[in-house]
Amino acid sequence: MKNCRIVCAHKYIPERKIDNDEMSRMVDTSDEWIVSRTGIKERHISTGENTSYMAGEVLKGLIEKSGISPLDIDLLIVATISPDYLTPSTACLVQHIAGAKNAFAFDVNAACSGFVYALSTAEKFISSGKYKTAAVIGADILSKMIDFTDRSTCVLFGDGAGGVLLQACEENHYLSEDMNSCGDKAMALYGGHMPVDTVFSKEQPNMGKYIKMNGREIFDFTLKEVPESIKRALSKAGLDLKDIDYIVPHQANARIVNYMAKKLSIDVSRFFINIDQYGNTTAASIPIALSDMLEEGKVEIGSGKKLALVGFGGGLTWGTVIIKI
Ligand code: ACO
Repeated sequence: MKNCRIVCAHKYIPERKIDNDEMSRMVDTSDEWIVSRTGIKERHISTGENTSYMAGEVLKGLIEKSGISPLDIDLLIVATISPDYLTPSTACLVQHIAGAKNAFAFDVNAACSGFVYALSTAEKFISSGKYKTAAVIGADILSKMIDFTDRSTCVLFGDGAGGVLLQACEENHYLSEDMNSCGDKAMALYGGHMPVDTVFSKEQPNMGKYIKMNGREIFDFTLKEVPESIKRALSKAGLDLKDIDYIVPHQANARIVNYMAKKLSIDVSRFFINIDQYGNTTAASIPIALSDMLEEGKVEIGSGKKLALVGFGGGLTWGTVIIKI
């Protein structure tokens, strides 16, 4: 069995909620600015739980929902840009938390495209025929890397984790993908710089730990490239936009989604949007959306509905995966 399908999805959201009014008391901003520019009304911020804890809760939830043993998982990929440590990987910490002793565990770093990159990676392992059960998790605590005096970034991000369990199956549910990277624009979004600062080194510029973003450049780049990626993925799958039940985009900005819908000449209701509740949760946004869609009954496992999962973000990275749920 070299095909794979999503068996279930699960999410973990930190309890502490910060609405736009609370943000407005921290920096010079307003609910009106944030909602009109981004669609965000509130976000959840960790009060201490780290990335591995959130991803571990997701993995435990996936195990419980699917009824498998932790020992059945032979592949565990965590997409994150905010790990607990550079080493060990978050995936190894999560493996220990959930007792997934037989998993080949590693992290993927692709910012807001992390989940689709990780899903694509897991699909290649399963399609090799050598792996059967993969947990693919996106988890980020960007609040660790945010300057809460910088209004241009601090209002945008929220913390959270989400994931799916993939299992090998007979029928093809992974219909196509279109994955891209553009290192030429790497510095349009950066954070967590680690300059060489030793007794041997000459003085180096230190770009700091905080996320810095040229929001306008990424906005324009996304609108130019991402609709084309969706079209290429559809064409590879032999499908048309009308065949897709939902487009599930990375939740960076509701305005980007509105423009994307215009570029694709489709109604924005074809996109699933929950950014109002969570803000931009980086690698977690797409699996959190999938988990919410399943909980809300918008889609059901085994329904055969077709989804286009669309990531874009730091790297720059972007990609579309078309699946049948
Ligand atoms: N409150 C009030 N005013 C603000 C705020 C704020 N929170 N933030 C910025 N402003 C001001 C700016 O200072 C600027 O003022 P000025 O005109 O006097 O200079 C004005 O608002 C407009 O600023 P812009 O940056 O041009 O605003 P824009 O409309 O581009 O919206 C945003 C900014 C929301 C960041 C948008 O550009 C965006 O969403 N970009 C894409 C982000 C993205 O997709 N990132 C990738 C994923 S993230 C990842 O990979 C980790």
